[in-house]
Amino acid sequence: MKTQVAIIGAGPSGLLLGQLLAKQGIDNVIIERVSGEYILGRIRAGVLEQGMTDLLREAGVGERMDREGQVHKGVELAFNNKRVQIELEKLTGGNTVMVYGQTEVTRDLMEARAEKGLTTYYESSNVVLHDVKSATPYVTFEQNGKEHRLECDYIAGCDGFHGVSRQTIPESSRKEFERVYPFGWLGILSDTPPVNDELIYCKTDRGFAMTSMRSATRSRYYIQVPLTDKVEDWSDDDFWTELKNRLPDDVAERLVTGPSIEKSIAPLRSFVCEPMQYGNLFLVGDAAHIVPPTGAKGLNLAASDVATLNKIMARVYQEGDKECVNQYSEICLRRVWHGERFSWWMTNMLHDFSDEGSKDAETHERFMSSELNFYTDTEEGRRVIAMQYVGLPYEDLK
Ligand code: APR
Ligand code: PHB
Repeated sequence: MKTQVAIIGAGPSGLLLGQLLAKQGIDNVIIERVSGEYILGRIRAGVLEQGMTDLLREAGVGERMDREGQVHKGVELAFNNKRVQIELEKLTGGNTVMVYGQTEVTRDLMEARAEKGLTTYYESSNVVLHDVKSATPYVTFEQNGKEHRLECDYIAGCDGFHGVSRQTIPESSRKEFERVYPFGWLGILSDTPPVNDELIYCKTDRGFAMTSMRSATRSRYYIQVPLTDKVEDWSDDDFWTELKNRLPDDVAERLVTGPSIEKSIAPLRSFVCEPMQYGNLFLVGDAAHIVPPTGAKGLNLAASDVATLNKIMARVYQEGDKECVNQYSEICLRRVWHGERFSWWMTNMLHDFSDEGSKDAETHERFMSSELNFYTDTEEGRRVIAMQYVGLPYEDLK
C-alpha cells in the first residue's frame, strides 16, 4: 500500500490535516489505535480561535460550526468577589472566539472524511514507524489480525501525548521540557442551561473554578482538585456545592444544577518536545506539546501546527520545493511557546498553590495576586490577555 502522507492518529490534528491535504489533492491515509466511537466519547476542549475556525471552513467542515457554534465577544475573570470582563472583540479590533466542542469538530471531520471516501484504519495495533530519516519511510501495523505496510513520502505524527511518533525520534535527537502542576481539574458536563453567557475563570481561596458551555442547554464546569482526589470521591452534589462556593455570589445564585452526563479529572501539564521534526516525520498537536487547559490553547495549537504542515506540503507537491520542510519545527515552536507561556501564566495567576505548603507558596500567591490586579486594572493589561486569548496570528513560510 502506498500514499503520499501517512497520518498517525485520528484526533482533531490528524483528521483536520487529512482533510486539508485531500482538498489540495495530496493523498493520505490515517492509522488510528482506537475506534471512531471511542474517540467521539472523549469530552475535551470547547473554545476555538478565529484562526482555527477559518481553517475548518477552508477544510470544508465549517458549516455546522457556523450554524450551531456560539461566537463569544468576551470572557470574564472573577476574583475577590469582583468580575472583570475581558472584551475580546473590542480590545483586539474585532476578533472573537467560537464555543463549539472538540467532539463536534471531530464528528464533522470524520463525516467529511467518510464522505470523501478517504482511507482510515481504525483499531490498528502495533503501529511502527520505519526509516523516517530516509526518502522512503513506511509504517507497519496490524488490523483484525492482518499485517499491513504503508509506504509514504512523509509521516505526520498526530497521535497525541502517549503516541508512538515522538518515541520514534531517538532520545539523543530531541529535548523535552516539562512542568507538572500539583493539582487537576475535575470537570462535569450536564444538560443544564449555562450559568452565564460568557465563560468565567474564577480564582478563589478554595481554589480555581470555571464555567463553560457546549450549547444553550449544555454546561461544562470545572473545579481545581488535589491530584490525590479520585472521581469516585466526588458525588454530583459534592461537585455542585463546591462549585457554588467558588463562584461569585450573584453567579452562584443563578446556577442550575442537574445530573452529570460526564465527570472526569484531568491532570495539568506543560510539555514541549523540540524539535518537532525528525527527517520526514513531523510531530503535530499533542504529540509535540501539552498545555494546561487554563487559556483554552491545546486544540488551537494543534490547529496552527496543522496549518503550517499543510502549507509546507502544498509547496512540496505543487512546487517541488523539498527544502521547505525544514521550516516546520521553527515556525511551529515560536507559536507553541507563546501558547505555552500564556497557559502557564493563566494557570499560575488563577490557581491556588497553597497545598504545596511552603513559605515560597505564600510568596508566589502574593506575586500572582499582584499580577492579576495589574493586568486587569488597565485597558492595556486586559488587551494583553485578550490578544492571546483570541489567538496570535499564524506565521507564513519563508
Ligand atoms: N497509533 C495510532 N494512533 C494512536 C497511537 C498509536 N500508537 N497512539 C495514540 N493514537 C491516537 C489516539 O487514540 C488519538 O485518537 O492518536 C489520537 C490523538 O488524538 P488527540 O490526543 O486528541 O491529539 P490531537 O489530535 O493532537 O488533538 C489536539 O489538543 O489539548 C488538546 O483537547 C485537545 O485532544 C486535543 C488536542
Ligand atoms: C471547556 O469548555 O471545556 C473549556 C473552556 C475553556 C478552557 C478550558 C476548557 O480554558
